[in-house]
Amino acid sequence: MAKMWAGRTDGMTEKIADDFNSSIHFDSRMYRQDITGSMAHAAMLAAKGIITPDDADALVAGLEDILKDIESGALSIDMECEDIHMFVEQVLTQRIGDVGKKLHTARSRNDQVALDIRMYLREEIDEISELVKQLIAAVTAKAEEYKSAIMPGYTHLQRAQPITFGHHLMAYAMMLLRDVDRLADCRRRMNQSPIGCCALAGTTYDTDRNFEAEKLGFDGICLNSLDGVSDRDFCAELMSSLSILMMHLSRFSEEIILWSSWEFKFVELSDAYTTGSSIMPQKKNPDMAELVRGKTGRVYGDLMALLTTLKGLPLAYNKDMQEDKEAVFDAVDTVKMCLKVFGGMVQTMKANTANMKLAAQKGFINATDLADYLVKKGMPFRSAYKISGQLVALCIQKNTVLEELPLETYKEYSELFDSDLYQAIDLMTCVEKRISRGGTSVASVESQITYVKEMLAK
Ligand code: ARG
Repeated sequence: MAKMWAGRTDGMTEKIADDFNSSIHFDSRMYRQDITGSMAHAAMLAAKGIITPDDADALVAGLEDILKDIESGALSIDMECEDIHMFVEQVLTQRIGDVGKKLHTARSRNDQVALDIRMYLREEIDEISELVKQLIAAVTAKAEEYKSAIMPGYTHLQRAQPITFGHHLMAYAMMLLRDVDRLADCRRRMNQSPIGCCALAGTTYDTDRNFEAEKLGFDGICLNSLDGVSDRDFCAELMSSLSILMMHLSRFSEEIILWSSWEFKFVELSDAYTTGSSIMPQKKNPDMAELVRGKTGRVYGDLMALLTTLKGLPLAYNKDMQEDKEAVFDAVDTVKMCLKVFGGMVQTMKANTANMKLAAQKGFINATDLADYLVKKGMPFRSAYKISGQLVALCIQKNTVLEELPLETYKEYSELFDSDLYQAIDLMTCVEKRISRGGTSVASVESQITYVKEMLAK
């Protein structure tokens, strides 16, 4: 097929070369950004006297019609075209005649595509941030519901100290809050306009890059034209932020998978977010959580693919860069899907607080509190730690728990022990006494919840 860029060559490329070269299958999703960008460009050209106001009006009207027609379905995007930029320009010229050919004055597809991706991705960031905020709200609501439900807190996946399920959930709310912040930070750096950098070196026309940037809602312009057309940092940054976000969802998924196992039985997922087995009738599988965990690898892969594509590229634009889009689009699509499913799964998840409590009662997770009890009665911590450890060993030997050892036995280890020790090692006391900021006490969890809600309202 002959090309709009036919000139030095006859443009009569092989079909297989066209298919290989074309990006319209994945960049057509940027049609709105492409058209909006072109309208701003036409307005700038007229404002600077590079084209006449009449020409600009014709271009803008033609572009508006194309946008309307694509959106209504009256115009379908021709997948035989090389890319979305060529498609729009081609239809424009077909519809309004030679004036259409003026649109590409003082512009190149290199700055055009860089503009389109930035515009496209900043909208995606807004959508993703909104989804993360909704998830934070769901997690926080669950935390509120379970702010006094005792469960074992773990280190090394060994029962460590008693915490509440609310406290555990709020840890994820904090992670996700950082994700929102990272996305905002990424958006800020992304929101600089590359349009006007042209092919690589700028242009001889007297353009006004700030005019276009402002019209399109950018905070400023890329200040080096070579950088403006070859920079894909914002894609890599977005994908690394998304990778970290997915890592959080994946850790959360892993816990949900463990908790819903028969061994833990800490949570029960809703039937609406689980699947059965085709052969084992008893099964209720946490597929959604497993898929989120699995898709994390895919998003990491997207990031690695782009970083690898970029690492050896000389300045400025190289066709390799066309590979940015499939990776970054896949990452945003995947993350959005995961966030939506995950939100529903968390919202409908129920905790089995009796089992959580039971697990907390059997692991000597109040041994630190027993040591602290002695410390408060005047013993140095190291000595108290040792006695507490010896008492745990004794319990294991006698197949009992700290709560059930008689006071006489305690007294054999230290005269400081008194009957108030049982109150001190009661699990709810252990939790309630952890009033340090960020600790697991109900009051602390409540203030975490308040903080998160305030951040969400901002
Ligand atoms: N489809 C191309 C891309 O996605 C647009 C830029 C093409 N520029 C060029 N000089 N061939 O990167």
